[in-house]
Amino acid sequence: MKEFFGTLPTGEACHLYTIRSGRLTAQITDLGATLVRLWVPDSKGAIADVVLGYDSPEGYLASGTYFGATVGRNANRIATSSFVLDGKTVVLDANEGPNSLHSGPRGYNVRLWDVQSHLEDRIILSLHSPHGDQGFPGNAHIRVTYLMEADGIRITYDAVSDRDTVFNLTNHSYFNLAGHEMQDQAMKQVLMMPARFFNPDDAANIPTGELRPVDGTPMDFREPKALGRDIAMDYEPLHLQGGYDHNFEVFCNPAAILTDSNSGRSMAVYTDCPGIQVYTGNFTEGAGKDGVTYVKRCGVALETQFYPDAVHHPEWPQPFIKANQPYHSQTKYRFTW
Ligand code: BGC
Repeated sequence: MKEFFGTLPTGEACHLYTIRSGRLTAQITDLGATLVRLWVPDSKGAIADVVLGYDSPEGYLASGTYFGATVGRNANRIATSSFVLDGKTVVLDANEGPNSLHSGPRGYNVRLWDVQSHLEDRIILSLHSPHGDQGFPGNAHIRVTYLMEADGIRITYDAVSDRDTVFNLTNHSYFNLAGHEMQDQAMKQVLMMPARFFNPDDAANIPTGELRPVDGTPMDFREPKALGRDIAMDYEPLHLQGGYDHNFEVFCNPAAILTDSNSGRSMAVYTDCPGIQVYTGNFTEGAGKDGVTYVKRCGVALETQFYPDAVHHPEWPQPFIKANQPYHSQTKYRFTW
């Protein structure tokens, strides 16, 4: 099914596309190749929409939350909005002080993507990002596929550029497995993550370069615990970022499992990315879907990606890609109920 979603300031229409498989249904808009709704049953058969979102394109255009969006060419932060590639300095458009967050202003999340194909269980969206777009080198062709499987949603990224560039694409969905309107439930949900290390950040959310063991810190999710259990602990990284907003290593798959014990819904994250940003929605306040006014921390984003600011840390996995070489990455959010 394809339905009208709204008209953009450019006069162009954007749409909502439904995909389904088994008992799972999602809606994706071509604005930002964004996941708008994701309906998942619970153990008693009741269906809930488990992602945060907005009712209209205006909501997506006006906010800085990146709800459900496809983020690129580089997800997360690049310090000083510049880096060296092939001996030349690449200068990006800054949007967070001197730094780049999610690639700067006019991100892929506010572009109208082309719908290449839409079938019952999948949609393929593509975007042309010209040479110099936001400062990144190379004419890039980017493709995102949302494939609904009977047990989850698989998001695949394919991209190619005609010059050496950076590709580090992610999906920025915030999950609340009790249903997006059950706001007080999000921080009660239990996270399990095998990660042994995380990246501490400075006050501007830029990694300091340290990979710190989670041992003995509130960042340790190797034993499952509620997201909110330790969030108020007196621990500098939690103070600096105002809650969890940190990259963790992906040690093994699933990289994370989130569980809502009341509904019985559980979500496992499988990815080929080296890192996962755990962001407890420390700034989600505002008008959301279905007349809901979102409060702080009413969902958690589990963004699979390269480590933040990896372009300045050659010792970490690198998001650089050669001209004409295919970039391919996949993340699956798998549900049980
Ligand atoms: C970042 C947060 C940021 C948010 C924007 C997340 O990926 O880690 O620091 O505030 O995106 O909505």
